[in-house]
Amino acid sequence: MDRIIIDFSNSKGMISPLIYGHFSEQIGGVFYDGLWVGENSHVENIGGFRKKLIESLKKITPPVLRWPGGCFAETYDWRDGIGPRNQRPKRVSWWYSHDGRIESNQVGTHEFNHLCRLIGAEPYLAANMTSVTPLHIRNWIEYCNFEAGMTTLADERAANGDPEPFRVQYWGIGNENWGGGGQMTPEMCANEFIRFTTIMKGLDIRHLKLIISGANGHDLDWTCRLMNEWKKRSWHEVPMWGMSLHYYTNAFGPFDDLVIHDEADWYDELFRANYMCKIVDDHRAVLDQTDPDRKIKLVVDEWGNWHKGGTGPSKGRNLFEQQSNMRDAVVAALTLNIFNNRCDVVGMANIAQLCNNLHSLYLAGGNQFVETPNYYVFDMYRRHMNGKQMKTTVISETIEKQDYDPMQTLSVSASIKEDIITVTMVNLDLTTSKTISIQGATRKIQGKGRLKVLSHRDPNTCNTFDDPYAIIPTERAVAFTEEESITLPAASVAVLTLQLDDA
Ligand code: AHR
Repeated sequence: MDRIIIDFSNSKGMISPLIYGHFSEQIGGVFYDGLWVGENSHVENIGGFRKKLIESLKKITPPVLRWPGGCFAETYDWRDGIGPRNQRPKRVSWWYSHDGRIESNQVGTHEFNHLCRLIGAEPYLAANMTSVTPLHIRNWIEYCNFEAGMTTLADERAANGDPEPFRVQYWGIGNENWGGGGQMTPEMCANEFIRFTTIMKGLDIRHLKLIISGANGHDLDWTCRLMNEWKKRSWHEVPMWGMSLHYYTNAFGPFDDLVIHDEADWYDELFRANYMCKIVDDHRAVLDQTDPDRKIKLVVDEWGNWHKGGTGPSKGRNLFEQQSNMRDAVVAALTLNIFNNRCDVVGMANIAQLCNNLHSLYLAGGNQFVETPNYYVFDMYRRHMNGKQMKTTVISETIEKQDYDPMQTLSVSASIKEDIITVTMVNLDLTTSKTISIQGATRKIQGKGRLKVLSHRDPNTCNTFDDPYAIIPTERAVAFTEEESITLPAASVAVLTLQLDDA
């Protein structure tokens, strides 16, 4: 029997909702025919955005949405996306050589902020630090955030339909500047960040949360050199809120197959996903050298599985569109447990990407729309947001793979909010179910609640337009005591919520 011991007196603090963030890039089918169908579409929409998707997304209370890139950001001119939509320029975007699509700019600053208002998410704008001037980005902030009547740019926003400021707090300055964002050295990136942000001082910087573009995966040398260069300045005009890092289980290929052919395919992906522990811990350790008070947050603003494209419903037309099966759900759940258990270090995280791209929550096209198993994971985990994280000790089988840290086959995180505990569990074992007991170290785990389980006897199963509910969670009421146990099927994700009897 596996065991979970929950220590109510040992917490890393509050689980920031921002850990449950999302990413939507102007790439492939994320917006065009995914999120955005246009106001005149025959597809039901709210202000041009796909109604079914908006309604579904609202249910999981998305805290933050990043846009417009990704790499797309590094050739993006925000002025292309304002004003009457039928007069907006068509541009060759960063991704043109990959998918041959011309950017129509039908979704721009106003549409994106309307989307955020519709779903109740904070906007997180990723600004171009490669091919426009610092003033251009400073002006974008002024355009978004100043009160109408104060400046000409604010009045321009009002004239374009939004007198109320967008009040965008989160600004990424640059994206992957080690690669598609200008092939910079870390020193150059730090200096550009300082050049771009220094002139923001004239804006209301108390409300700006600026994020520097950080490393690719476990590239600690990048982080070390970036932060040393940044630290060399004896003072900074504008503080840095966070440092980003990106990690895909399979970035830059050779890309993995969606299909799980054998046990090795299953566990290889899980080991790569679990590597996120090391990435976060090691980056924090490097950051501690220049930021010992831990003022700078880690922002994992792109994460997820990256499979070979072409498995999604568009059959390859939408760049990086892939299907998702139980392995993707398990990776999503494992990763969220990793972040919950490091909530003192991870300030924000954004799964890549929301719709029709990589580790998506949704697939959509024309009138068709489906929630992937990843969506259900976010739904099952959402009670963790703003909960107090609690330390869990897990006793389960541990497996090993060369070059990776050993990995337990049961992943857990727990939190408490209003005397209801939420315990999320992932059975990483592909073939064997688990019987699990749960005990409290300082308080008894006893009470009434619910158990939700996401699983399928064939982990290769996907939700499709023809069979949209092939994988959905099952739910039942439970009256739990420490003498009871829970059985989780192989390759499954579960959430137990309990109102404690002693509350
Ligand atoms: O998410 C797809 C791409 O992956 C993003 O544009 C880029 O930042 C990353 O390399």
